[in-house]
Amino acid sequence: MKVLVVGGGGREHALVWKLKQSPRVKEVFCAPGNAGIAALATCVNIGAEDITGLLAFAKEKGIDLTLVGPEAPLCAGITDRFQEAGLKIFGPSRAAAEIEGSKVVAKDIMAKYSIPTAKYAVFTRPEEAVVYINQTGAPCVVKADGLAAGKGVIVAMDKETALDAVRSIMVDWDFGEAGKLVVVEECLVGEEVSILAFTDGVNVVPMVSSQDHKRVFDNDQGPNTGGMGAYAPAPVYTPTVHRQVMDEIVVPMIRALDAEGRTYRGVIYAGLMITAQGPKVLEFNARFGDPETQPVLSLLETDLVEIIDAILEKRLDSIDIKWKKQTSVCVVLASGGYPGSYEKGKVIKGLDQVPEDVMVFHAGTAEKQGDVVTAGGRVLGVTAAGPDILSAINSAYNAIEKISFEGMQYRKDIGYRAVERLQ
Ligand code: AMP
Ligand code: GLY
Repeated sequence: MKVLVVGGGGREHALVWKLKQSPRVKEVFCAPGNAGIAALATCVNIGAEDITGLLAFAKEKGIDLTLVGPEAPLCAGITDRFQEAGLKIFGPSRAAAEIEGSKVVAKDIMAKYSIPTAKYAVFTRPEEAVVYINQTGAPCVVKADGLAAGKGVIVAMDKETALDAVRSIMVDWDFGEAGKLVVVEECLVGEEVSILAFTDGVNVVPMVSSQDHKRVFDNDQGPNTGGMGAYAPAPVYTPTVHRQVMDEIVVPMIRALDAEGRTYRGVIYAGLMITAQGPKVLEFNARFGDPETQPVLSLLETDLVEIIDAILEKRLDSIDIKWKKQTSVCVVLASGGYPGSYEKGKVIKGLDQVPEDVMVFHAGTAEKQGDVVTAGGRVLGVTAAGPDILSAINSAYNAIEKISFEGMQYRKDIGYRAVERLQ
């Protein structure tokens, strides 16, 4: 079969890499892709949000299956458009994807169905949010309702920061339309974990757990990023926590979405805080996480196409999904200055010296006159698996020694929480 992957980051490189291992996949296209993906698939110069262009391409090439990486096309209804045109596509409908597209929609569904999450209030006018914050005080978390590329969430440790956040979102319109509504939330305390699950709308099969590292610097210092590294599985996700998460959060949410006329098919991502009162939802995403997908998929033994077919045919309970009993670590190599401004076009050296069992998933790279150059904030995700967290960490960091580009920065402590739990 011919498969089209929509997107061009590290997550999409991991998806393409996994799809290429399926005996059923003959050819993979990726729109727009990147320099690493180009080694495995035919990259086509169509933006991930150009739904009309993607649809025309899929029809012209006779694409048998399309997989969508990023949230923007899902929230814009790419799945509905492809299905209306009679094309097979993997990803939730626009109505289902709204759990990521609107934090208010997600919070209201969670409240209605008693799914544990932070207490919250929604505001349409900045003055009201200001009154509320002045009454309730800090710490609190201020969130723009809509999509803001991971930047619309401000964890405010003091009132001033919270009021600044309201101003930035609702008065200065720093996130545009995404800031028409604001959610002010209780600040949850605990360790975070990401649970991705496959679902056909009825059956729900969780993937191995994972943990992202959102802050740019070691020891979780500095501003939030798209994610500086991840590992899977995460030991904070114990069997007890797992039962709670499935029984109280993931399965009830899938049932709730069905009851609300938003039947969810695809991959659902629950960002959770494991608090002293048990797991609570920070956010739902309507897609694979980035960078969580890189370590998670590297542990998946089952053919991804078999899983997708089972979901699209609503028989996810008919297959047995198997995982390697290993730990996988992905360390992100980023451009100097990220998540602030950074330069592009730096030549990346040493990629050919990385051991074969280490996967270097490209995030922001391009090809220029025979060189691979940087083309984004997050550049590469060096991903290694091993029998335990320490060996996986060692393999990933040893491989990083071989790679260099001007300004390259990365965290030296990916996986530290798992290591601490060992001690
Ligand atoms: P989100 O995009 O909603 O996951 O938010 C990004 C990050 O902000 C999360 O990964 C958490 O680190 C933090 N965060 C979001 N909501 C809360 C909350 N209610 N309490 C504490 N931290 C939060
Ligand atoms: N790693 C966070 C996300 O994919 O949203």
